Parts: sequence; structure tokens; C-alpha cells
Amino acid sequence: ATVEAIHSLDEHWNGGGYPAGLRGDAIPLLSRIINIAQTMEVFLARDGADATRSILEERRGRWFDPVLASVALDLLDDTDLLRSLREADERVLGAEPGRARRIDERGLDDVAAAFAEIIDAKSPFTWKHSTNVAMYAHGLGAQLGQDAAMLTRLRRAGLLHDLGKVGISNRILDKTGPLAPHERQAVEAHPVYTWEILRRVAAFADFARPASLHHEKLDGSGYPWRVGGDDLDLPARILVVADIYEALTASRPYRAGVAPEEALRILERDRGTRLDAAVLDALAAMVVNVEERTL
Ligand SMILES: [Fe+2]
Ligand SMILES: [Fe+2]
Repeated sequence: ATVEAIHSLDEHWNGGGYPAGLRGDAIPLLSRIINIAQTMEVFLARDGADATRSILEERRGRWFDPVLASVALDLLDDTDLLRSLREADERVLGAEPGRARRIDERGLDDVAAAFAEIIDAKSPFTWKHSTNVAMYAHGLGAQLGQDAAMLTRLRRAGLLHDLGKVGISNRILDKTGPLAPHERQAVEAHPVYTWEILRRVAAFADFARPASLHHEKLDGSGYPWRVGGDDLDLPARILVVADIYEALTASRPYRAGVAPEEALRILERDRGTRLDAAVLDALAAMVVNVEERTL
């Protein structure tokens, strides 16, 4: 029931929602409740009770079950209830274990790997993408003589670089046709979310930067920050190449991946202009090594 409820979270009472366009009672009750609850949570915290009241009224009967929306409006007038909810919230937060709780290095790798699986499972087009990018980033770093600590950072950055995609609708991510400008904008924001999430987690902050810069280019033509030149440091340059190489060589439901040599040729076109020359050399060496090992 929970899975079903989560699946139907974006359905609207009037049938204009996503993914199935369910209407009215056909939407699971739990989804209808959570849909209202999450809206209240966001608007109450950010804009206060009046704004929450008007959004409930505006969406009643369109997005929201009208009966439930009326119940929610009544709740908004119950200031005692709202206060006790806030207090309960604070008690829960106060009971949280302190930030000092640590997990060991092995644990961090496991956490990063688990998140990578979640990220890659979100879309049928990204099977193993993050795991592979991590492997390539690690391999490129090793080829470039980086120390063990840096290799760990590169691997974890690879695992979590697309974490921000979790915040973007599959309706856009999985679209096969051309993207409308606002959809492109949404997709291109994913590194911003990756940055905002990783930098807040103490154990992940030290690789938040290379992870978030994976769509930037040396000449400043990348996105979303258009960071280039010396501001795009070696770890970031490695992630950029690892990400493109994976995307080119991996097979997707709608096409087979290109051969390693062909991917190298494609990347070579941007040598020194958009992509780092030393990293491309490392990639070529890595590909040869891998092929020798698998022969
Ligand atoms: Fe990405
Ligand atoms: Fe990626």
C-alpha cells in the first residue's frame, strides 16, 4: 500500500496528474492525504498559515480531494494542534543522535554505493551508470598517479555525481523526444542539487565539488555554472571525462554503446579545448590496459 501510495503521489483529483491520470476515488486514499500533507508542510514552513489556506482553497477539487482539503482547512484553524505538532517535531529533532556519530570508511563506501544504485534505478536509461563512472574516475586517477585518498574521493564522487537527478521528475528525465526549454533547464539543474545535498553531509563534503562539476567544460561551455580553465581542477576534469566516456560506451534500451576506440575518437575532438589533454591520455592508456586484461 505504501509503494502504491508513493507511486500515485503526483495524481490529481481532477485526473490531470501523473503517471496514470487517475481521477477522484481511483487515487489511493493514502496518496490523497499525503499529497495535501506535503503541500501543507512546505507552505506552512515557508509562507505561513494564510498562504497555506489560499493554496488549499485554490487546489481543492482540482488537485486535492475536496473533502480532505476541507478537513485540512479546519486543521489550519486549530492553532493548539499546530503548536503541539511543532513541539513534537522539535522533540524528535532533539532526540536525534548527535552529529558526532561516525561511520567508518568502509561504511561510507557502502552508503555511497547504495545511493548509486538508487540513482541508477530511477531511470531505465542509466543502468549501472554511476557505478561505472566511479570505476572510470578511479581508474583515471590511478593512471594519473593520484594518491589513495584522492582515488577514494574520485570513486565516491563518481558514485554520487548524479544524486541530484533524484529531485527531477522522470517525466522529464525519461523523455525521448527533444526537451522544451523549461525541461532542459530542469535537467541541467541536477548538478546544483548534487552540490546542495553533498556539501551538507560532512562525510561527503570533500568530494562535493568534483561530483557537481561533471558537466562543466574547460572552455566554460558546460553547465550549470560554466566553470572552466583553472577553476576546473583535476578531480573535476576526471569526472567530466569519466561521465562522457560511460555515457558513450554503455548500452541503453534504445541503442548499443559505441566501442571504446570509437568513444576515444569522439572525445579526442575536444582535446585541450573542452576536455583535459592529460586526462584523455590517461583514458587511452586505461582502455588499452583493460583490453589487454580481458584478452
Ligand atoms: Fe549528470
Ligand atoms: Fe552522469
